[in-house]
Amino acid sequence: MIPEEKVREVAERLSIVEVVSDYVPLRRAGGNFLGLCPFHAEKTPSFNVNPAREIFHCFGCGAGGNAFSFIMKIEGVSFPEAVKLLARKAGIEIEERQLSTAEKKTQDEYVQFLLINDLTSSYYRSVLLNGQEGEPARRYLAGRSVEADISEAYHLGFAPDRRDGLVKYLKNNGADLDTAVKLGIVRKSDSGWYDLFRNRLIFPIRDARGKVIAFAGRVLDASLPKYINSPESPLYHKSSVLFGLNMALPSIRTGGSVIIVEGYFDHLALYRAGIENVVATCGTALTSTHAGLIKRHAERVYTLFDSDNAGKKATIRSMELFLEQRVPAYVISLPVGDDPDSFLCTHPVEEFAALRDKARPAFEYFVHSILAETHPDSVDSKVRIIDDIVPRFRKIADTVERDLYEKEICRLLGITVHSFRKRMGGGRLSHQKTPAEQNKTIQPGDAIQDTLLALLLNYPEARAEIIRDGLDKIFTDDYLELAGLVLDSLAGSDDSQALCQLAETLESPEQKALFSRIMVSDSYLAGIEWRSVLDQCTRSHEKKQLASIKDIAARLAVLDPGSAEYTQLLKLADTLRTRKSKL
Ligand code: GTP
Ligand code: MN
Repeated sequence: MIPEEKVREVAERLSIVEVVSDYVPLRRAGGNFLGLCPFHAEKTPSFNVNPAREIFHCFGCGAGGNAFSFIMKIEGVSFPEAVKLLARKAGIEIEERQLSTAEKKTQDEYVQFLLINDLTSSYYRSVLLNGQEGEPARRYLAGRSVEADISEAYHLGFAPDRRDGLVKYLKNNGADLDTAVKLGIVRKSDSGWYDLFRNRLIFPIRDARGKVIAFAGRVLDASLPKYINSPESPLYHKSSVLFGLNMALPSIRTGGSVIIVEGYFDHLALYRAGIENVVATCGTALTSTHAGLIKRHAERVYTLFDSDNAGKKATIRSMELFLEQRVPAYVISLPVGDDPDSFLCTHPVEEFAALRDKARPAFEYFVHSILAETHPDSVDSKVRIIDDIVPRFRKIADTVERDLYEKEICRLLGITVHSFRKRMGGGRLSHQKTPAEQNKTIQPGDAIQDTLLALLLNYPEARAEIIRDGLDKIFTDDYLELAGLVLDSLAGSDDSQALCQLAETLESPEQKALFSRIMVSDSYLAGIEWRSVLDQCTRSHEKKQLASIKDIAARLAVLDPGSAEYTQLLKLADTLRTRKSKL
């Protein structure tokens, strides 16, 4: 940890113009310096550096922040590394702060956890490979044609049919059993310690870097439960882990795509067939955290689930998650009754590749699977189908895609685009934003709220007035949140130092971009009559909000009156109406 005072000292010693000039030629333009943005390709400069505020912003790509964020971005380093790098430039020596006792304890425990998991996986591995106890598992793997190289690649193991095989092994190797209990792999009872896994084939579960964080154990026969997994632990959160990601990363990077399957053995079957860009969920449905993780690594995702009803449901659910994350998703469909493992056991890998190449866009798959269930042969059934489609359709972010699907849906149902849109709830409100998107859409900015936020930053009197009237009267979404943070950081102090620090602490990239944009472009407000600008902006803002009453009415007409969204919109409409009557 770098002490806070040091960070400040570095920030004070170096000007952002100096820092940026090492990478980008800058020329003065009014209060700002201007250059070609190093973060995206451009021919005319839209990269602004504001020396007074110690902040940069690119109007082309939205990148922005202070000197530290600049270094982090351009050098691809973490915050502490950026501080160290700039400290060197400024000639400031940095000694890292000693970890506190509590921090040290957490770190030590973390190391212990990993150590215990390593010991555990070697233990299971050696039971599988050597000796009589491993024989049933070796026979099982041979029966499923899992050869030595594959067994090694997954580091498969076997938990023998003993009460405390692992317990003894850990004890003999000096591991702390209480720590192992926290990982769930051993348990404690009145009659002593005992193992979680017994008589099960073991799949170690690894994180993206390959560290063993948990285990899954499969029975060797048809008994139930087929699998048990390590419980959640400080190392293992199943809703955010993708099995096999560490093995898949190189080929995801080369090809840009990833295939998601449901089972450990499905993963294994594909890997064995030479298809390596595969991950599996660990016995849970796909979560938005999973989808986010996938988005970080892949440009495109294929789902490969069973062709039964549960698999179909999982496919559609995952489509929604990927629509929300804006990751293009495709569905690979297997013949009915097959799973990836059984398919690859009976077909050459080329046939699988052909199915993958024929994968349908997930939304298309979804529409067709609805139509396969319900025939659109009556008004009633058409309405039901549309109501199924509409909430998902709203999540399609790409406008071209939306247009195409709209046409396709209307064609398939034999309805007009007009009536589809009507059912959608008309105009602008129709694209309901997901939480992730609510942040995203801010980019081009809302000119009125831009000005209001700039007033808040520059004029303490305006600030007082805005606080008195309530922030939420004039700000929405990201603006509202940012305005709140600005006020918090200005409370008590009024200097640019506070704002500079704020730039560092903002977490969402969208808010960062918004903040830096306003900080480099609010010079037009210098010396203005703040009250008249504030009045003007407040009025325009309210008018704009009122225009949405019509949209809300249209949405209400198609919503279920029992739903939470209905109640919420109704309330909003009421507030807007009251305000209108006062104007
Ligand atoms: P095989 O049937 O041996 O081919 O294994 P599989 O990995 O393909 O399993 P299956 O298709 O039956 O199930 C898919 C995934 O769901 C598994 O890999 C597990 O992650 C999970 N799963 C299946 N059965 C259970 C269970 O009984 N308990 C738990 N916790 N998870 C299970
Ligand atoms: Mn299977």
